[in-house]
Amino acid sequence: MTPLPDAPIQVDSWLSGDEERTLANDVLDGLTKPFKELAPKHFYDARGSELFEQICEQPEYYPTRTELAILRDRATEIVERTGAGELLELGAGASDKARVLLDAMRAAGTLRRYIPLDVSQSVVEAAARTLVDDYPGMAVHGVVGDFERHLAHVPPADGGVGGNRIVALLGGTIGNFPPGTRRGVLAKIAGLLGPEDRLVLGTDLVKDPQVIEAAYNDAAGVTAEFNRNLLHVLNRELDADFQPDAFEHVAFYDRRHEWVEMRLRATRACSVLIGDLDLRVEFAAGEELRTEISAKFTAERVAADLEAAGLELDAWFTDEAQLFGASLARVPAAAAG
Ligand code: SAH
Ligand code: TRP
Repeated sequence: MTPLPDAPIQVDSWLSGDEERTLANDVLDGLTKPFKELAPKHFYDARGSELFEQICEQPEYYPTRTELAILRDRATEIVERTGAGELLELGAGASDKARVLLDAMRAAGTLRRYIPLDVSQSVVEAAARTLVDDYPGMAVHGVVGDFERHLAHVPPADGGVGGNRIVALLGGTIGNFPPGTRRGVLAKIAGLLGPEDRLVLGTDLVKDPQVIEAAYNDAAGVTAEFNRNLLHVLNRELDADFQPDAFEHVAFYDRRHEWVEMRLRATRACSVLIGDLDLRVEFAAGEELRTEISAKFTAERVAADLEAAGLELDAWFTDEAQLFGASLARVPAAAAG
């Protein structure tokens, strides 16, 4: 749709006014509940994506470096198992992890195309521009879209040698979906897989709660800033008048649900007007708005979630300390076709 100069880059965008409507609907649903909450995909405007990249560099945030190390260890094996020449990455962000898989495809001589998909237009465009330069001969087909709604618009695998694909959902992003919606997301992704394709799924693992809580309460306060960025998004996109400074960052591990909850707590009573919705929302002093969960998994939980979505666990990779897990999954042979 918008070919950037120097093809082979193409970036398609499926967001637009459409996206603002989802935000409006989510806000209307989420802020009128007795226990207020909002969907996390709205964090990621250009500023949110930048803050997330900074979170990844914080010493307390172990998931990124651990998942990268696992991928570095296993990329050759993953590529060998699939013979893949294409990588479709959902929620690609800065695409740093993609490079590890793309390097292995290049070494195997199969590399043809990278398809980053993300709701954040800025990251898709930036990744497209730098990766075509860094991987001469590789095509990049970026998709700006929502993987819950736009998977039908993902370009089909192009067939031929190296036509098999790896579909990746990394960073523990699947854990940001509550258990009740996870199966639906994975099942839609399963629908993208041909018989020889593989899903690479990254999941953060259950561990010492102190280690987990530190990762979501970094000393530099970047996660707090990321959390409050959601209020800036609402102010800008929906003409709301939140005072972000009046909200403090809260993140804690819920041992019963085995997930981290991130919340924004009103430090004083606030009456907020969401202009575009003609909606007034009252926050009592101390009232909390849930902004994200990040589920922590066991290997058994991952296998069960994959199975519930019609997928089969093919291989399980973890680091020595078992902080993070990466799964390879496929459509069972009987169901493929
Ligand atoms: N894969 C990267 C980034 C993870 S952060 C890593 O592992 O470090 C999650 C990413 O998913 C963000 O870039 C965010 O913009 C994107 N994202 C979140 N929900 C999404 C959705 N519904 N559709 C598309 N992208 C989404
Ligand atoms: N996918 C990331 C994770 O679950 C997103 C994230 C970063 C996040 N920082 C967060 C989620 C803070 C909740 C709280 O780790």
